[in-house]
Amino acid sequence: MSDASEKTPGLFREQHRPAFHFTPREHWLNDPNGMVYYGGLYHLFYQHNPGGKLWGNMHWGHAVSWDLLHWEHRPVALHAEPEGLGYIFSGCAVVDWRNTSGLQRGKHPPLAALFTHHSRREVQAQSLAFSVDGGMNWRMHPGNPVIANPGLADFRDPKVLWDKARGRWLMALAAGDRVMFYRSRDLLAWERVGEFRDRAGTGDAERQELSSGGESGDGAAAGVWECPDLIPLRSAASERKWALLLSLNPGAPNGGSGTRYFIGDFDGECFRPEHDDARWLDYGPDNYASVSWFNMPEGDERCVIIGWMNNWDYANALPTDPWRGAMTIPRELSLIDTPAGRRLAAAPVRELESLRTGLLHGGNELRGKRIDLSGGRPLPPALEIELEVDWSNPPPADSSREWTLRFCNRAGEELLLAFHPRASRITASRAKASAGLTKESNFDRPIAAPVELNGGSSLGRAGHLGLRILKDASSLEVFQSDGRSLLSLNYFTAAPLDGLELAANAPITVSRLAIHRLNAA
Ligand code: FRU
Repeated sequence: MSDASEKTPGLFREQHRPAFHFTPREHWLNDPNGMVYYGGLYHLFYQHNPGGKLWGNMHWGHAVSWDLLHWEHRPVALHAEPEGLGYIFSGCAVVDWRNTSGLQRGKHPPLAALFTHHSRREVQAQSLAFSVDGGMNWRMHPGNPVIANPGLADFRDPKVLWDKARGRWLMALAAGDRVMFYRSRDLLAWERVGEFRDRAGTGDAERQELSSGGESGDGAAAGVWECPDLIPLRSAASERKWALLLSLNPGAPNGGSGTRYFIGDFDGECFRPEHDDARWLDYGPDNYASVSWFNMPEGDERCVIIGWMNNWDYANALPTDPWRGAMTIPRELSLIDTPAGRRLAAAPVRELESLRTGLLHGGNELRGKRIDLSGGRPLPPALEIELEVDWSNPPPADSSREWTLRFCNRAGEELLLAFHPRASRITASRAKASAGLTKESNFDRPIAAPVELNGGSSLGRAGHLGLRILKDASSLEVFQSDGRSLLSLNYFTAAPLDGLELAANAPITVSRLAIHRLNAA
C-alpha cells in the first residue's frame, strides 16, 4: 500500500498493485525477514534486489508500521557486499533487552539481526548486524560471520528466539534436509545443540495428491528446507507446545514451494513432533517463508506471522511493474483442538477490521445474482467477504454436485472457487485469471485444498462452513472455518474482477453474507 509521503506520480496506482498488502515501491521482493516490534513500530525487512525485478543481488529492504497494515518505506537496511562476505539472505531480528551482546550505546537496547551471508562462491554463513537507535540504522558486526559454514551447501535462514526457561538465545537454522538448533548467551558465540529431521525422510518432488481425509499425502518431504521458525504456543488447556514452521521448495501440495508445520515438544535441544502426517500452513500455491514477529507490544500475547505471497515456480515471471512480489496479510497464529487433534489455525490480524469502510453487500441472497463488487468505482476493489453456508442434509452421493463462487468481469476473465461436498475439498482455478503469464509458468495448473468444517465433520455430512475471503487487486486469501484451512493465491486479470456469482448444484443455504469495502490509503 502506498506510503503517505510518496512523491512519484502514478506510483502505487499501477495495474495489479495490491491496495492492502505490502509491496516494495519498486523492484524485487521475496521472503519477509527480521520482523521485530520495538518502540511502537513493527519492523518488516525483506529479501530485496534494489537494482531490478528479478531475484539476485540480495539486500534487506525495510519498512515500518504502527498497525501491521499501513507501511512506511525506509532505505535499504542491510547492503550486500559482493566482494566481501556476500549477499544478504534471509534471517531474523531480536531486541536484546538485557544487552547480552554488550552492543548497547545510549538509551535503546541493541536490536540484532541474524541473517545468512551468501558469498560469491556460494558459501553460506550466519552473520550479525545491529542497531543502536531502535532499528532505524544498521551496521555489520566486525566479528562476522558468527557461525561459519561446516561444509554444507545449504546452511541458512537463522531464526532466533529468547528461551525464557533457560535464559539464553536459541536459533533454528535450515541445513538441507534438517533443522539445526544452536544456543548462545550473547548472540555472538553459538553452540550447536541438536537437530530435527522429518521422520518421513525425503522423497521425490512429485506432486502430493490431497487425500479424501483432508490432509495431503504421506508428507514425504521433497526439496530443500528453508526458513524454519520454532514458536512456543499454548493449547486451549494452557499446555505449552511448540510449532515448527518449515518452508519447502519444491514439494508443496499444489506444486512448487510451500510451508509445512509440525506440532510437538522442545526440550531446549531437540524438537519432537507429535504427528507423522504432513500438515500445511496454507494449501494455496502462494504463501511461502512465513515466520513470526519477535516481540509484540506490552500485554499483547499474539503470535503474528507474515509470508511471501508467491511461489518459486513462477515468482520471477509475475506481470507486475515496477515491483515484483507481495506479502500475505499478517496473520495471528494459534493452536486449536479439533476432533482430529491439535492443529494450527491462522486468521487475519484483528487490525484488519479497522480498514472496513462500509458494507457493500449484506443479507443472505446471493444465488442467481451477480453482485457488483466495484461499488461504481474505477479502482480494483479491496474487499473482505464473510460467507456462511449450511447443509441441513447430506449432499447426494453425486460427486458432480458442487457449489462455486465465481469472481468475474465482463471481459470473460474469472477466478473460480469450487466446493466439492463429497470430496471435502475446494478447488480453485485461475486459468482465466493469468493474464500476462505464459503457459510454461505453470501458473494455471489446478489448485486443491481440503475443507475443514467448523464442527470438524466432513462436508459429506450436514454441516456449517464459515469463509472469510480477502480480495485485493491481484490476490485472494481464503480462511476457512476460523482459519483451520487456508488457501492463498495470486491472480492477474486485464480488467478488475468486479462481479461475484454463486452457482450451486448442491443443497446449501447461505446463512450469512457480508461484503466489506476495505480502505488502506
Ligand atoms: C527462501 C530463500 C531462503 C534464502 C532466500 C534467498 O525463499 O531461498 O532460503 O535465504 O530465499 O533470497
